[in-house]
Amino acid sequence: MRIVAFNGSPRGAAGNTQVMVENFLAGAESAGAETESIILTDKKIGHCRGCFACWLKTPGKCIIKDDMEELLEKFKSDIIVFASPLYVDNVTGIMKDFMDRTIPRLEPHIEKDENGECKHPVRTGHSPGFVIISNCGFTGMEHFQVLKLLFRRIARNTGSKIMAEIYRDGGGILANPMLVLRPFLMHYNKLLKKAGSELVTDGRISDKIQLKLEKPIVPPEQYLKTANKLFAEELQKLERGVN
Ligand SMILES: Cc1cc2nc3c(=O)[nH]c(=O)nc-3n(C[C@H](O)[C@H](O)[C@H](O)COP(=O)(O)O)c2cc1C
Repeated sequence: MRIVAFNGSPRGAAGNTQVMVENFLAGAESAGAETESIILTDKKIGHCRGCFACWLKTPGKCIIKDDMEELLEKFKSDIIVFASPLYVDNVTGIMKDFMDRTIPRLEPHIEKDENGECKHPVRTGHSPGFVIISNCGFTGMEHFQVLKLLFRRIARNTGSKIMAEIYRDGGGILANPMLVLRPFLMHYNKLLKKAGSELVTDGRISDKIQLKLEKPIVPPEQYLKTANKLFAEELQKLERGVN
């Protein structure tokens, strides 16, 4: 099984999202998958121009010459991981640009699915399974409502199945090197690895691991208190001209 992850965080390898991606992929690899992790901010990805050349002039190929040609090849994999931090209740702009530029995968003509909803056929006939990974700064799983619906719709549009979704609220601490957090983060990272290995062996994350993954890493009140304290300290430093 081949799994390719795309991370849309502008913070790339140093960010919280990548901690989730790396642990998930490590687990998948331990169960025998071949994995690749791609950080979108390291790639050249222009905005879609909406010219429809990829449908009508050069079918299947975008006229923008950047890294998307190479990235579209990755959709031949068995599973694609869309990983993005939550930005204004949505994916990041980088991830959205990337998703817009996957339109050459589709054919222009419009057909109806089994529910009578419109869709474009996938050019190659191959629709990889989707895994969604996200984290956000607030506490509370309700913040992922838009993202959940967004990826359900995209999966439907392209005939893909959502194989797993891992959402982490209170995710601002994931890449945090504070010693006091280490045991909690190590536990969470282990769960991510287990989720990755289960996906490869069983085709899904078990209910037991899913439930554990959704439990707060630290108590939400403690997380919010610490975050607000850190913000206040930074602003005080700024006032004193220390920064
Ligand atoms: C422009 C911007 C918008 C954000 N919007 C939200 C949001 O709507 N809800 C939320 O809980 N966190 C929001 N966050 C916080 C990020 O989701 C959070 O910092 C996350 O851990 C970043 O992941 P990363 O380190 O991989 O980039 C936002 C951050 C930025 C910079």
